[in-house]
Amino acid sequence: MLRIGWAVISGVVLGMSGLADAQASATVSVSATASHPIPTTLCAFLELRSGDGGLYAELLQNRAFQQVTPGTSSSLNAWQALGGATINVIRESVPVSGSLPNALQLVVPTGTIEAVGFANTGYSGIKVTSGTTYTGSFFYRFPTSSSFRTLATVALQTLSGNTLGNATVSISGTQTSWTQINFTMRAVTTPADLNNRFAFIMEGLPASGQTINFAMFSLFPPTFNTRPNGLRQDIASVLQELGPSFWRFPGGNNLEGQTVATRWQWNTTIGPLQNRPGRLGDWGYINTDGLGLFEYLTWCEDLNMEPIMAVWAGFALGGTSVAENSLGPYIQQAVDQINFVIGDTNTAPGALRASLGHSAPFKLNFVEIGNEDFLAPNTYTYRWTNFVNALKAAFPQIHFIATTDIDSPVLTPKPTEYDVHVYQTPTWFAQNSFFYDDIQRDGTKYFEGEYAAISLNSSDVFGHRLLFPTMQSSAGEAAFMTGLERNADIVFAASYAPLLGSVVNHQWTPNLVGFDAGNVYRSTSFYVQKLFSLNRGDEYLPSTLPSRTGTLHWSVVRKTSANQIIIKVSPFILVSISFIRL
Ligand SMILES: *[C@@H]1O[C@H](CO)[C@@H](O)[C@H](O)[C@H]1NC(C)=O
Ligand SMILES: *[C@@H]1O[C@H](CO)[C@@H](O)[C@H](O)[C@H]1NC(C)=O
Ligand SMILES: *[C@@H]1O[C@H](CO)[C@@H](O)[C@H](O)[C@H]1NC(C)=O
Ligand SMILES: *[C@@H]1O[C@H](CO)[C@@H](O)[C@H](O)[C@H]1NC(C)=O
Repeated sequence: MLRIGWAVISGVVLGMSGLADAQASATVSVSATASHPIPTTLCAFLELRSGDGGLYAELLQNRAFQQVTPGTSSSLNAWQALGGATINVIRESVPVSGSLPNALQLVVPTGTIEAVGFANTGYSGIKVTSGTTYTGSFFYRFPTSSSFRTLATVALQTLSGNTLGNATVSISGTQTSWTQINFTMRAVTTPADLNNRFAFIMEGLPASGQTINFAMFSLFPPTFNTRPNGLRQDIASVLQELGPSFWRFPGGNNLEGQTVATRWQWNTTIGPLQNRPGRLGDWGYINTDGLGLFEYLTWCEDLNMEPIMAVWAGFALGGTSVAENSLGPYIQQAVDQINFVIGDTNTAPGALRASLGHSAPFKLNFVEIGNEDFLAPNTYTYRWTNFVNALKAAFPQIHFIATTDIDSPVLTPKPTEYDVHVYQTPTWFAQNSFFYDDIQRDGTKYFEGEYAAISLNSSDVFGHRLLFPTMQSSAGEAAFMTGLERNADIVFAASYAPLLGSVVNHQWTPNLVGFDAGNVYRSTSFYVQKLFSLNRGDEYLPSTLPSRTGTLHWSVVRKTSANQIIIKVSPFILVSISFIRL
């Protein structure tokens, strides 16, 4: 039992390889002398896309008509008129803010008698729970002043119009400039399903002939840690269950933009919601940017996670690289972004952070320069050099992470950290659990920033993707992860990707956690990540190595505080497993 330097464990795995059941056993010697510490950031996770309709708790889709073309049917996505009213998205002559040029115009025909208004059907439905208080707001103005006054109803309803909860709001025809209405409403009924909507309703007769413009709606259930503009309690709690030690943001490819103009920019994602223009994200849908830089950072604080933040590095996913002599403003924007996070309050971005209620700097030790720059290796050579030299000079204490293939192209200065991504088959992961054993120890460290077994078809991994992780794919990942632990002297962090995917409306599969408007679904890979994360240990104990070509993979760590030795075993093709410690 590890009393005198060495111990023996034996593992027995019953595998099903090919035609016949096979039995394998391994005798493993473990050293009680640690070879290297396990970094506190190892084997947690995360990366994500915009959060809209998922982690971000906002219930209304297309809440501010951001980035839509007025007059088109897609500009009314998720909205519908009620009663005999008509609604249209217009380009406002007097916009609610410089960032939100569009408004929803409600026209009530003369002669209207029945109740009129409009509704929003949320992100494939709205979860309504009796007893829950919902917090909402919107802006309105009358293009033409009138003496019209009414008490309108805001409500949560089933799609057939049954009320689940409501509140009244006062609307006055004298308001020709934008007026914000804040309201709360308590649900009094729990409906049978998620087919519900938010509605704004007025009595028809008095409203007959009126035209009213609306902008910047919002409706939130209670959020995780009651943060304003915060996260969905159920999804955030499931992520918290993983014991995550870092959070990588803002994406993924979603950082990059398809064009330079549509890149993610930190300064358009902070402050009041009406100051956030939103952007066309890289995957073809509009990002509200409601989940912005400040929200990412407070989320990191809430879960005590290390932020791994990316800065845009002169490449847009559509293929444009900014020329070397034009990089200046983008480097400055990256400096400003980092100063928003950690800068002194005598810098403008630091003062902005303080004005949002966080005068102390956030924690920030890791910054990625770009994302997947193996997509543009020829320009990354000068982009990396210019960005890292300027940023390292301004922030010498920060670790800057490169995102090309390791040593290809050769970068100057030599990166101290790389972010490595791999999507492959379960077999690939098991067979490559020794990948980092073969990487030279030259001072460079590695972040396995995106990995997942996504397909069983090795000749077309991306074209034949799994819908959800399977026992087989998760066991392949687990085999690979034992290699990450064994090589934690050079692998400082690792995250499965993508983290979250809607089960109703998805583009990329598989995801670690699935969700719809009312439910959260943990995958088999979720349980693998959780197992590794919660049993991370702090020292790696060398043991007899697993066979590079075998189906049984293991790693041994010690959790000194708990005086525990933890042995993780992945039988890649798994039926059952037991092991005995002598
Ligand atoms: C508001 O809710 C109450 C029940 O709480 C219901 O009686 C009333 O009809 C609702 N009003 C509207 C306009 O939906
Ligand atoms: C509505 O709530 C927001 C956010 O809490 C606040 O900034 C704003 O002043 C409120 N507006 C009104 C009219 O109360
Ligand atoms: C954000 O910053 C960029 C330059 O760093 C600037 O061009 C742009 O106007 C800013 N946008 C907002 C909304 O402040
Ligand atoms: C694997 O992908 C290739 C290339 O798309 C395809 O021809 C083949 O049929 C696929 N195999 C299976 C088992 O789906």
